[in-house]
This record gives sequence, structure tokens and C-alpha cells, in this order.
Amino acid sequence: MSEIMLGISAFYHDSAAALLVDGEILAAAHEERFTRKKHDASFPVHAVQYVLNEAGIGLDHLSAVAFYDKPYVKFERLLETYHAYAPSGLRSFWAAMPVWIKEKLFMKKLIRDQLGSVSRGSAKALLFPEHHLSHAASAFFPSPHEEAAIVTIDGVGEWATTTIGYGKDNDITILRQLDFPHSIGLLYSAFTYFCGFKVNGGEYKLMGLAPYGRAASEFVKSTRQKILDHLVDLRPDGSILLNMDYFDFATGLTMCNEKKWTDLFGVEIRKPESEIAQPYMDLALAVQQVTEEAIFRIAATAYDLTGCENLTMAGGVALNCVANGKLLKQGPFRHLWIQPAAGDAGGALGAAYAAWHIWKNHPRRIPGLPDAMKGAYLGPEYSAKDIERLARRYAAPYVRYPDEDALCSVASEMLAAGKIVGWFQGKMEYGPRALGNRSILGDPRNPDMQKTLNVKVKFREGFRPFAPSVMEEELEKYFDFSCPSPYMLMVAPVQQGVRKPLPEEYDRLGMFERLYHIRSEIPAVTHVDFSARLHSVNRETNPRYWKLLAAFRERTGFGLLVNTSFNVRGEPIVCSPDDAYRCFMKTNIDALVMEDYLFLKSDQPGFETQEG
Ligand SMILES: [Fe+2]
Repeated sequence: MSEIMLGISAFYHDSAAALLVDGEILAAAHEERFTRKKHDASFPVHAVQYVLNEAGIGLDHLSAVAFYDKPYVKFERLLETYHAYAPSGLRSFWAAMPVWIKEKLFMKKLIRDQLGSVSRGSAKALLFPEHHLSHAASAFFPSPHEEAAIVTIDGVGEWATTTIGYGKDNDITILRQLDFPHSIGLLYSAFTYFCGFKVNGGEYKLMGLAPYGRAASEFVKSTRQKILDHLVDLRPDGSILLNMDYFDFATGLTMCNEKKWTDLFGVEIRKPESEIAQPYMDLALAVQQVTEEAIFRIAATAYDLTGCENLTMAGGVALNCVANGKLLKQGPFRHLWIQPAAGDAGGALGAAYAAWHIWKNHPRRIPGLPDAMKGAYLGPEYSAKDIERLARRYAAPYVRYPDEDALCSVASEMLAAGKIVGWFQGKMEYGPRALGNRSILGDPRNPDMQKTLNVKVKFREGFRPFAPSVMEEELEKYFDFSCPSPYMLMVAPVQQGVRKPLPEEYDRLGMFERLYHIRSEIPAVTHVDFSARLHSVNRETNPRYWKLLAAFRERTGFGLLVNTSFNVRGEPIVCSPDDAYRCFMKTNIDALVMEDYLFLKSDQPGFETQEG
């Protein structure tokens, strides 16, 4: 009989569930995709239900349920932190404690009760691997490497904020650990907060803002130096010491001491949603530079400690794809594999892996290339019946294309004509990025595409260009990058031959003037510093999506498309056909392709009346 491990992450942000059957990933999903609440932190009842249904089992069949951290140790960290900073910590102590006392300390009972609401019976064991071990397991075990260095960097788990480890066979050894409050993730989050973005989600925006910083300016240089002189002691081995006079996250309910930061940097905290002035772009660049330096030094230490050629990474900071692209390019590691669900949602998968390999001591089968993640397509999929049922409910006309080539030909024709296409196929992605199964697509050559997608589809005046999905075979034609980047976790420069010249004094132009200047033959996916966030598409991993790209290449000569996640601002990525149809109808997406079905906006009945 199969041995099955359920991994769970919950109660902080991005709850998720993952299921391993005899050591192989069967299914994994974020709770937010079902509840439609972005970053949903509640117990992942729906995600657990989904993964159990995929296996056709109940709780009795589980060998273990593994939760992604140790709540008691986390509680101990909170208590000690409050003690160390008393009395200034009292305010947040009282704000946090009732929740901890009522819910989190009774975690075992809480988890058992919540699981009981999903299915009858109970798992044989309930395990609590450490938070960073869960991240490390999610990085190493599904990677293609027999042995590897493992680096995990995030905000904080129990105590650890960064670890360096070594993985071989079915074991992981943690070699170095950096503890709270000294955290690269929290440093980055503090700047995210100061620049007016949301912590735990807005970090990506800060990274996208950094290329607008003027690298050669005195302000950026002096800001970088101020960070290193006053905020962070960055040591040669990559470890850091934060000067806690400048940070409030240990004692207060905010990230940084706003007055001290204003005095130091000479700018006030930016109000969320306000116009973004140049100093915030420069701050973003300066902290990005410091973060990269810390990551490079940690990687160098990991290389020295392990002597491995392979590096695997996870933790929220491993989503910093600008740093990742540079790290791979400059070495010392020859190979870099990053868990696509590098944030806390991926902890669910890591916890399940830890239960399988470390707790149960099962040997590891080395996954073949590219890895054991099945392209990260691990979530729910829907049948033709589901889509036809949806079409009946909304009286939505469609055309069915049972011939995949014909469908790709029609879709590519629309894309080449400047239309925006919602593309929904197969299993939903695990991790924060849409990788062609729940994506909104457009023509990267189109000079208006970036603006149209932002304003008319995503309903935001975004300052970031979109990411390209590019046929793996065509990657080097457009980008100075030679390895596949299947999870959109690497940023690389657009090739010189594809670029167009910049006007004089480009750096002095306003943010949107710079953004809308046509910088390359593929302007919709070229950032202001000529960088691009790469998603390379492999013919075997995702044949249907690859075929669409190939059809677009045949029509236009360009084997790439704009790929942005299928959602609107503030909402999770669509999961079901219903989510997709509603998003399609509420935005200016011109056509929706769901599996074999094509819905044209011009054919659809009015949506308001349907809703009413
Ligand atoms: Fe984490």
C-alpha cells in the first residue's frame, strides 16, 4: 500500500497543502486560489480537500501530516523578543498574544480539528519540521541534483532567517544559521514598507522599481553607503547584523522607525498609492544592491562549506529573480535550482518531503532533468463538462476546437492582431507565478501592449513591464541567458541586437516616459534597464503552451509572448472556469481560451445583467 504524506503551511500568509505519494508529488495548491482571498492565511481546508480528492483518500490513509514550522519554538522567539525589548514591546505583545494563547499554542488540537472538518478519520502522525528545514527540503529534494548546497533566506521562521545547508541522498545537514532579528528578508520588507508597498507581497514591486533608480547618481551611492553604515553590518561571509535602533518589527507593529529613516535618508515614508518620486526608486535600487551583495556572499560561503557545484534555494528572498539571474551568471555555482513555490506556500511541500525522507528515512530517487516539480502544474484542472456547464450557466457562446493545431493557429492570429487572450489549460500552477496554464497573453512587439494590459485588463498604472514566455529554443535569440528558466525566477538582459537606442538624458525622464519609450523590438517585456523576467517554455513540460508559442512564431517570426497572471489587481490567480470567465467578462480581455473552447468577447451577452 502506498505511503502518503500531507504537508501544510498555514496561519501566517499563503496557506497551502501538498501531497506526496510514495515520495512523488501528486498535488499541491494554495488556499487563496479556492477562497479567492489573496495570501489567505487561514487553515487550508479547501487545498487539503483538493489534494486528498486527487489521491482518492481520507485522513486514515495518511502516514503523517507535516506542518511547516514549530509553533512552540516560534512562540518562544516571540516571548524572548518581547522580553529583550521590554517595555517597548508591550504594545505588540498585547496585540499578538491573545491570538497565540487562544489558537497557535493549541496547534495540534487546532490542526486535528480543522482536518476533521475536511474528512473523517485521522492521520497516524502529526509532525512539525522546522520552518527553514521545510524550505530547505522544498529546495533540495525535488531538485535534479544528487547533492547540492542549500540556501534558504526569508523574513523569519521560528528563529532562523537564513540557513546554509548541504543535501545528499535523503538527508539535509544545516551548516550555518542566522537568527532573528537579523534578517535580509525583513530588511527588504522594511524598505518595501517605507516605499509605500505592502509587506509580504509588495517586495516584488520594490524589486521592479529598482531599475528606475539612477545607479550613477550620488543619491544612490550615498544611500547604499548609509544602509551599510547605519542599518546593516554586512560581513564577509554574508551574515548580517541589523541595527535595531532603526527597525520596529521586533517591538512594534510596523517595520521601521520612520523618524530615524526620514532623518537618515532625507525623505518621508511614501504614502501607499501616491505618485512614486525619484528618491523611492533610488532607495529601491540601493537596497536591491545591498541585498544582492548579501546573497552573493552567502552563496560564496555555501560554496566554500560544501564544495558543491550545485546550489538549490528557497525562502521568500529566493523569489528575488534579479539577484538569482546575476548569481547564476557570476558563479561560483555552475547550476542553480530554485523551488518555484519559494515562499511559505512551498513550505507545505517541503514539510511533506521532510516527513518522507528525514522522518521516515526513505531513500531518494534522483529526479531526472528538469526536476520533480512537473512544471509546477500541480493544482486543480477542469473537464470539458465543467466548461460546458459554465457556458450554459452564463448562456455564453463558444466555438470548440478539438484540433489543438487549429486552436493555436486561431489564438496566435488574434494575438498577432493585437488582441489580448486569456489562456486557461490543464492543472493550475503551484507558486506565485502563472506559467502558461492560467495566463493572460499578448503580443510583446506591440508598443501599446504594456499600457493596455495594465490599464484595461489589470486596472493599474503599473510601472513594471510584463514577463515574456519564450520557447526554450529561442531563449538566447532574445536574451543574454543560456539556461532554461521554467519558473520565471531569473532576470536577464535583452540581447544587444534586439535593443533600440535610448534618447539622450533618458535617466532624467519621468517614470512613465521611460517605461513607454520603445527600448527594443519586444518593448512589452523589456524593463527600463533592458532586463526581462524570463519564463522559458519546454516542449515536453508544457506541449500545448509551447505549441501556441510555435504558432505565434510561425505567424510573426517571434517565438515569445507577453505572459501575465490571469487575475486582476488584488485578486488571486483564477482557478476554476467560473473564475476565468468572470475575470474575462469584467476586463478588456478580447478572447478566452479554456481547454478546447474559445469564447470571443464580441459574442458574449452583457455580464452585468447576468450577474444581476
Ligand atoms: Fe518562510
